[in-house]
Amino acid sequence: MTTLPLPPSLAATLPGRYYTDPDLFRTEQERVFERMWFCAVRCADLDKPGAFRTVQVGRESVLVVRSRTGALNAFLNVCRHRGARLCTDEQGEVRRALQCPYHAWTYGLDGKLIAAPDLTRMPDVDRSAYSLVGVALREWLGYAWVCLADEPPSFEDTVVGAAVERLGDKAAIDHYGTEELALGKRVTYDVRANWKLIVENFMECYHCATIHPELTDVLPEFAGGYAAQYYVGHGAEFGDGVRGFTVDGGEGFGTLPDVPLEQDRRYYAITVKPTVFVNLVPDHVILHRMFPLAEDRTVVECDWLYAPEVVASGADLSRSVQLFHRVNVQDFAACERTQPAMASRAYRDGGVLVPTEHHIGIFHAWLRGRLDAA
Ligand code: FES
Ligand SMILES: [Fe+2]
Repeated sequence: MTTLPLPPSLAATLPGRYYTDPDLFRTEQERVFERMWFCAVRCADLDKPGAFRTVQVGRESVLVVRSRTGALNAFLNVCRHRGARLCTDEQGEVRRALQCPYHAWTYGLDGKLIAAPDLTRMPDVDRSAYSLVGVALREWLGYAWVCLADEPPSFEDTVVGAAVERLGDKAAIDHYGTEELALGKRVTYDVRANWKLIVENFMECYHCATIHPELTDVLPEFAGGYAAQYYVGHGAEFGDGVRGFTVDGGEGFGTLPDVPLEQDRRYYAITVKPTVFVNLVPDHVILHRMFPLAEDRTVVECDWLYAPEVVASGADLSRSVQLFHRVNVQDFAACERTQPAMASRAYRDGGVLVPTEHHIGIFHAWLRGRLDAA
């Protein structure tokens, strides 16, 4: 097949196999999810010693647990005896220790092996050599980010740096005090699409006029299709009659205390590669965490975070939550509509990006670079 050069208005996407090939997904697991900082757990979900959560990071199950000192620890969820999965529940709480259900090897919340049947009859065994395998953990925005790499990349450059690059200034995100906010609502979406379709969709607004009527009512500039959210420092402005970031443009919950005037009445979107979207609006923060589980399946956990007093007051959050919930449903339906076609002969060489989508090419170049890295 001969391919004609593209006119300058069009740029190439990735070929279809990038979204369907299990071997390529495996390479992504290895070279993207297992090497970068991965947003795993909301810290406040683990609210007492012994509270744990297990998450899939690349090919590994990672166990994040609140220790008795109050710190969060992360371990590979694998017993050092004969490899049984230590915790099979997605979340739960243990009293003082993590006990493997197979032969009862028992680990402290700091991962140290503290007991095992007959261990006292094995005086030659140095139990400190059989601690759970630790995983690097950092907290930011009220979330625990883990990294499976032996030498994790700089958290400041690769995670915090993404926000700074987008907003032009770290203070611009600090103003929302995200780590102090309370969870108002969480929705988990099981999306039958490759994680990259979700990222690409989030990065462009060419689709906004077609599928997001409620969002474009609140943010009229999105109807123009320009991904204004990607110009450094720019936040899309609320429409004239809009009073809040709600499904009908009605009143929200005011403005978070440190959000300055120039950031009020605006929406900012940040992509922290590979799997996080942060959305900032005056009265709340919406944070998406993706868990890519297969080449055609991605679980997305979306949290709506509000000032603690708003959540404590029992205020009705539904009109506030409904706006981005609808956006999510509309976006994920579009991704699911696209996924099956990635395997079609019609998409073997990929599709095209129009000028308002050209910046998605930066994501593609970044991904290719990671996949090529040894
Ligand atoms: S595999 Fe865990 S105690 Fe044996
Ligand atoms: Fe969208």
